[in-house]
Amino acid sequence: MHSFWDSLSAPFVALAPMDGITDPVFRQIVTSCGKPDVLFTEFVSADGLVSEGRGRLLQHLLFHKNEHPIVAQLFGNIPDHFFESAKLVHSLGFDGIDINMGCPDSNVVNRGGGAGLIKTPDIAAAVIDAVKQGAGGLPVSVKTRIGYDEVQVHEWIPFLLSQDIAVLSVHLRTLRQMYKGGAQWEYMKDIMAMRDQAHAPTKIIASGDIQDLHDVQRLHEIYRCNGYMIGRAAIKNPWVFNPESQGKQTSLRERLETFSSHLALFDKMWAGTRNPSELKKFCTTYTLGMPDATSFRTQFMNLKTLEELREYLENYLSHST
Ligand SMILES: Cc1cc2nc3c(=O)[nH]c(=O)nc-3n(C[C@H](O)[C@H](O)[C@H](O)COP(=O)(O)O)c2cc1C
Repeated sequence: MHSFWDSLSAPFVALAPMDGITDPVFRQIVTSCGKPDVLFTEFVSADGLVSEGRGRLLQHLLFHKNEHPIVAQLFGNIPDHFFESAKLVHSLGFDGIDINMGCPDSNVVNRGGGAGLIKTPDIAAAVIDAVKQGAGGLPVSVKTRIGYDEVQVHEWIPFLLSQDIAVLSVHLRTLRQMYKGGAQWEYMKDIMAMRDQAHAPTKIIASGDIQDLHDVQRLHEIYRCNGYMIGRAAIKNPWVFNPESQGKQTSLRERLETFSSHLALFDKMWAGTRNPSELKKFCTTYTLGMPDATSFRTQFMNLKTLEELREYLENYLSHST
């Protein structure tokens, strides 16, 4: 079935799903700095979306029109919950639904979700099927890793390719690797060959340590994947998807003004529900190139409330040229 994925030409570039990062606020920031070809939400619990507490989770699934095409990612391991959650995601106007089969967090894996599904292919298949049933025709995709404890590319990837999914995103590390060591790009050639031999309609997105659009071009010449995902490099540099920003450092003024917008959006979206100290992880991002960065960061880190953070930043901005 034709979907938005078919209208993206290779190599397309996606904002990787990142829990605690790619919330509606950060997605707006990235979209304003230079929009990727496709955005993913943070993962959201399929169990949570069918529970009484769904209201809080639904906030993570808010998006603006300017974020299309946008894919919602779900995690869990109970097919019925995925079915109901997929119906909900469809009703919210998303362009696609992605199933997380790669999260290494023990809270998720010990309940059989995330990368835990690598150990239970029968359940993984039932989950994919349930999402397809509930998705109302939206394209269904999977994001995974290359194995659980050991590399299982030659069993796990063909299994997923046999599930008739629109897209398979592969983070080139095992669960055991977590985020340590380099991504194992040497397996990408095998993955592409398996996809081609299976004559599967599935598009492949590669994920792992990609720094910028130059990197995408370089990797594309070698691996010919359909798409590439950038995660952590977008936290360090929200302008990473902007072709005009490649190889250039965004001016300090623009960085700080973007920080200010980030604080304002966070305030509007999360005031009273999320701790403003979460914003401190972006402090290094926005203060890169600042002559007195260390002292700015130290003082910023000691502030507690959103008002204090905003006031400190505005004060700095008004005194800098
Ligand atoms: C803070 C953080 C949160 C993440 N959360 C998710 C998630 O919710 N769903 C998912 O599929 N992958 C998640 N990932 C994995 C990324 O999507 C990506 O595959 C991985 O970070 C490797 O790509 P990178 O080197 O470009 O960051 C997360 C990664 C980080 C660093």
